[in-house]
Amino acid sequence: MTVPAKAPWPSLRLGVNIDHVATIRNARGGGHPSPLRAARIAAQAGADGITAHLREDRRHISDDDIMALGREIELPLNLEMAATEEMLGIALRHKPHAACIVPEKRRELTTEGGLDVAGGGGRLGDFTRRLVGAGIRVSLFIDPDPIQIEAAAAMGVPVVELHTGAYCDAGHGRGEAELARIRTGAALAAEAGLECHAGHGLSFDTVGAIAAIRQIEELNIGHFLMGEAIFSGLDSAIKRMRALMDKARAELSGQMSA
Ligand code: PXP
Repeated sequence: MTVPAKAPWPSLRLGVNIDHVATIRNARGGGHPSPLRAARIAAQAGADGITAHLREDRRHISDDDIMALGREIELPLNLEMAATEEMLGIALRHKPHAACIVPEKRRELTTEGGLDVAGGGGRLGDFTRRLVGAGIRVSLFIDPDPIQIEAAAAMGVPVVELHTGAYCDAGHGRGEAELARIRTGAALAAEAGLECHAGHGLSFDTVGAIAAIRQIEELNIGHFLMGEAIFSGLDSAIKRMRALMDKARAELSGQMSA
């Protein structure tokens, strides 16, 4: 079994979401633990990018965090944000490498479900065009739903991020159906010329199946890594996640070249 020198599918990047370092910091105020320090450790541990969600209510990441990350971190910054005029102004000022547009409800615990791109009308299209026009790589966070994927392609954004929450939360016996939706969605996205990312709720147990979907080019992972870091350290948690992603990709190489 030989692995081709250059795999005929994209490599898989890991974006480490550091929101919950800020959640812990904000529980007491002050500066500890520092999201910037976490981003530096993530870079050393093998992350390909840093992701941070500046929420309207600033419950974790702050405006100062975004400024510090943009100034001090060499890895590409992926700014998760709602489609509001305030966030548009911030993104245009900081010009992160990427902006992932997410739906946001004030009372939700986390991002529940993807954007309704198909029902979003022209407003979302105008919004994303202004970001793309500023040289920011825009992605839309959507459920793995063919209607939403087609709407994203029609809008002309370069990237979609498929919501893996339903797969990760699936009870016994429902996981395969949710995984099949993500596989189909990733294939559809790639056919439509979209770069495909995925994330939400991924853990050591669920990452392998998602990493084995060859059209997916980037995973964004936060909550599980930060929780695991309490027990094993952030460096070790990220390295293990990276290793599981690489193992799934290597197995894919084996299957393709066998
Ligand atoms: N991708 C997007 C668009 C998200 O909103 C989030 C959560 O902030 C994640 C990925 C990461 O999800 P988790 O923290 O569950 O790993």
